[in-house]
Formats: sequence, structure tokens, C-alpha cells
Amino acid sequence: MLRVSGKCYLEGRGLVEACIEFDRVIRKVRSHCVPDLTLRSDELLMPGSVDLHVHVRGLGLSYKEDVSSATSEAAYGGVTLVGDMPNTHPYLNTAEAVLEKLREMERSRIDFVVYAGVGSETKKLDAMPIAGYKVFPEDLERPELEDVLSSSKLKILHPEVPNSLQGQRTLRALWQELASLRLVRGRFHVTHCTSKETVELAHGSGFTADLTPHHLLLHESDCWDKVNPPLRDETTRRALWDSLWVAEAVVSDHAPHLPEEKRWHYDICPPGIAAISFTTPFIYSLVFRGVLSVDRAVQLLSKGPATILGLKMGEIAEGFAANFTVVRREYWRYSTAYTKASHTPLDGYPLNARVTMTFVQGKVAFDGGEVYPVRGVNAIA
Ligand code: DOR
Ligand code: ZN
Repeated sequence: MLRVSGKCYLEGRGLVEACIEFDRVIRKVRSHCVPDLTLRSDELLMPGSVDLHVHVRGLGLSYKEDVSSATSEAAYGGVTLVGDMPNTHPYLNTAEAVLEKLREMERSRIDFVVYAGVGSETKKLDAMPIAGYKVFPEDLERPELEDVLSSSKLKILHPEVPNSLQGQRTLRALWQELASLRLVRGRFHVTHCTSKETVELAHGSGFTADLTPHHLLLHESDCWDKVNPPLRDETTRRALWDSLWVAEAVVSDHAPHLPEEKRWHYDICPPGIAAISFTTPFIYSLVFRGVLSVDRAVQLLSKGPATILGLKMGEIAEGFAANFTVVRREYWRYSTAYTKASHTPLDGYPLNARVTMTFVQGKVAFDGGEVYPVRGVNAIA
């Protein structure tokens, strides 16, 4: 059992002096104790960040990013759980591929969940410890989608058409139709919304919605910020900031490619921005700058995504996972530390918050200097 005392974010109470007693799970929240570790007076013990949309890669794409590099970068950025997307090699839409992926994820330094893709083995996949399914725009045309749509697991929808098919870029009417016809069961979540209208449409259809920092901050100039769904025009980007007050989560959509791949000609270079360690310090920077309330930040980073995934995480309360992100107010310029995709268009972005410690499963996964080989667990198992 470990006891940490200092300024903590407690559900319903906000930032208060407290002592948290935990092993893998939070056992007691006290007002005083004899602590093993006392936080610095400028540090805040926050619920661990949950990033529900990450391309960890691994397997045949380990040359771009592997489980150790992705999850080390995540721990450095205060992320305590990743939701791993299925578009690796092999594609994760068979029981065999998912099993291989789950085994590989045992090397993860933070907690994780895995999503499968649309394929012909949905019935088998439904019985496996996966969080749900990722539905890409091209999947909408596939007959196998029907099984996925009737699965009771979470479905993560990619709402917009890719670069190559630009033009019709709102939430696909098909999903609204499906929802209104009640053909779909279970939970739906619309990821990386690029416009305020998409968030409104998602909510109107009874879905939850998330945003990425890059769609809030960047405009496209070259391949470094080429991404799917693509960055929008300046008016749409600015209006998306309104959605920070209503979206259920922020995600990184960490999509690593090698620096040399991003230097290929624009037309053939792969889309994706790899900045898993940016999201948490960015959102807490908004708190320190007085733009967002601390409650909203916790909702977007921890409580919202944990609720979407149905996990007992994202709150500092008895019985919840002992995953914490320690942040402090500090001016610095963003840079990555462990990912193979070391260069990102967010490099040098001025931040006012820094992650000084990350706890996973009650253990120190990052201490401000180093990342440690802590073993994360499959939160769905
Ligand atoms: O920009 C993107 N990159 N969008 C996606 O949907 C996939 C991702 C990737 O895997 O690189
Ligand atoms: Zn993605």
C-alpha cells in the first residue's frame, strides 16, 4: 500500500488537500495521513488521463511504432490508458490477429484496451476481451458491417470521408438513418470531430463525441500535418473550440509514421499526427490560462473517456483504478521523448502545464525524468 498526499482532484469536491491510499486500486481517500510521498506544493494529483483513440501500431508495423515506444511516450504525456486502433498488419478483424495483438500488448507500460475492425468474425470477436469496434468510412459499404452494428460492444465511428474523397464531409447520413431506425444496439461514439456541426449531429443522434488537439490548433501546410480526417479551414477550426465545452472526450489519434515517410511527396506520404504526449499538458494549459475549468478538463481527459469505455477509472475515489497524472504549472515548449515518430507539427508549441509523474496500476510509470517498465493491464479482461 502506498500513501500520497498533496493537492488532489476529488470527485465532487475539486482540488483539495488529501491523502490517497492505494495499491492497484484506490483504497482510501483521507484528509490526513503519514504519507510515503508528499507532492510538491505546486503539483496536482489528477485522475489518470485516458486516451481512447491511439494507433499503437506494433506487429508488422513495429518499424513505425511499437508497444514499448508508444506507451512510453504515453506515460511521459500523463496517459494511463490507451485504446488501440485495429489498422495494423495484420488487420485486427480476425480472432487470430486480435489474440496476437492482445499478447503483444502485455508489454504495454500503461493500461490498454483493444478495438477490432470490421470483418467476417464478429461473432467470435464479440466473445474476446476487446473494447469494441472501429468503423472506418470505407467499412460503411461492407456487408459485414451489419454484425458489428448489432454487437453490444462499443462502436467507434470515424465520421468523415478521407482526403481523397473530400467534398461531402459531415457525419454520414447513413449513421443517422441507422440510429433513427433503431437498427443499431449498444453504444456509439463519434471520434475526431473536426467541426462543431459534427459534434452537434453526433449528440443529436444520441452518440458521444470527441475532439483532437490538432483539429483545434493546426492548419495544413505540408505532409507533417496531413491527417484523416483532414484539418479544416480557419473559420471551422475556430468554431470547433465551442465544442470543448460539450464534447465527452479529447483524444490524440496518435498516428505514428517514420520521419522519412512524412518527407515523401505530399501526394503519397501517409496521413497521421503522432502526439500522444501533447493532449494532457495542452488541456491543463487551458486550465492554467483560465480558458477551461478544472472540472471540464477532468471530464475531457479522464472521466468522459473512461465512462465511454465503461471502465472504473478516471476518478480519484475509493474502488477506482490507482491511475494518476501529476501536473504542475510550468512554461515549456512541447517536444516528444520516446515515440519513433519523433517530429510532429506540434513541436515547440508553448504550454503552461507539464506532467511530472504518471502512476499506472498504483506504480510510478514516469517520474518526470524516466519512464519505468511498469506493466499495464487490459482493462476489459
Ligand atoms: O490520419 C490518419 N492516420 N487517419 C486515420 O484514420 C488512420 C491514421 C493512421 O493509422 O495512420
Ligand atoms: Zn485514428
